[in-house]
Amino acid sequence: MYVVILGPPGAGKGTQAVRLAAATSLAHVATGDMFRDNIRSGTELGRLAEGYITQGELVPDRLTIDILMDRLEEPDTVSGAIFDGFPRTIPQAQSLDEALQDRNRQVDVALLIDVAEAEILRRLSGRWTCPNCGAVFQERTDPPKRDGECDNCGKPLAQRPDDAPAAIRNRLQVYREQTAPLVAYYEKAGLLIPIDGERPPDAVQTALLGALEPISA
Ligand code: AP5
Repeated sequence: MYVVILGPPGAGKGTQAVRLAAATSLAHVATGDMFRDNIRSGTELGRLAEGYITQGELVPDRLTIDILMDRLEEPDTVSGAIFDGFPRTIPQAQSLDEALQDRNRQVDVALLIDVAEAEILRRLSGRWTCPNCGAVFQERTDPPKRDGECDNCGKPLAQRPDDAPAAIRNRLQVYREQTAPLVAYYEKAGLLIPIDGERPPDAVQTALLGALEPISA
């Protein structure tokens, strides 16, 4: 089963993709995480992507489609995957369709996590992440047990550079212009399922798993 998770920045795509991957044993494919790994390791791709990400712009399709295609060559994606943050443009969606068709597969469902902008601003300004293990916290609703310290590995938490107010505003604008058209793309294909993302994480997870049930049966 191949699942696309759509939604604005801060909707909870990463939070839910990790939970869904654990519940379904599908591979978790997150282009944002892949870019951040490359930035941390100082690769050429990381160097190219960093400026776009910090300003809240999309990394160009050519680079993004290339890393996604490389990821699809890895064996853990053969029986399915949860795509978190990909596709983000119509050309990316078309490339994904073509790549899966070449493997006699298809996108089975696109889950749209719906969250209003006011809540997104609250979530992103209060998000803390662990640069070491990738754990994500939320200072209002899911704070770490010890202030500024990761619950999993004890390393200091940090705020993402693209969670600065100007970058958040730009990411929302970019979402409206370049990514929101994917809602109509998947709706037209009969694959879109909207989910109310303004509930607590457990309730959102239950709704997402409920939406996947008929598809995975
Ligand atoms: P990416 O990392 O994908 O960022 P994003 O889509 O902007 O999404 P976020 O990670 O900010 O939010 P999320 O929806 O995953 O929410 P989260 O679960 O963390 O991409 C970063 C950048 O990389 C892009 O801007 C772009 O530059 C580049 N990029 C990546 N993919 C690309 C592509 N395909 N094409 C081109 N460029 C690409 O939750 C947010 C906060 O809310 C957390 O604190 C969390 O704890 C909290 N939270 C989650 N759920 C709830 C809930 N139900 N209630 C309350 N709080 C909640």
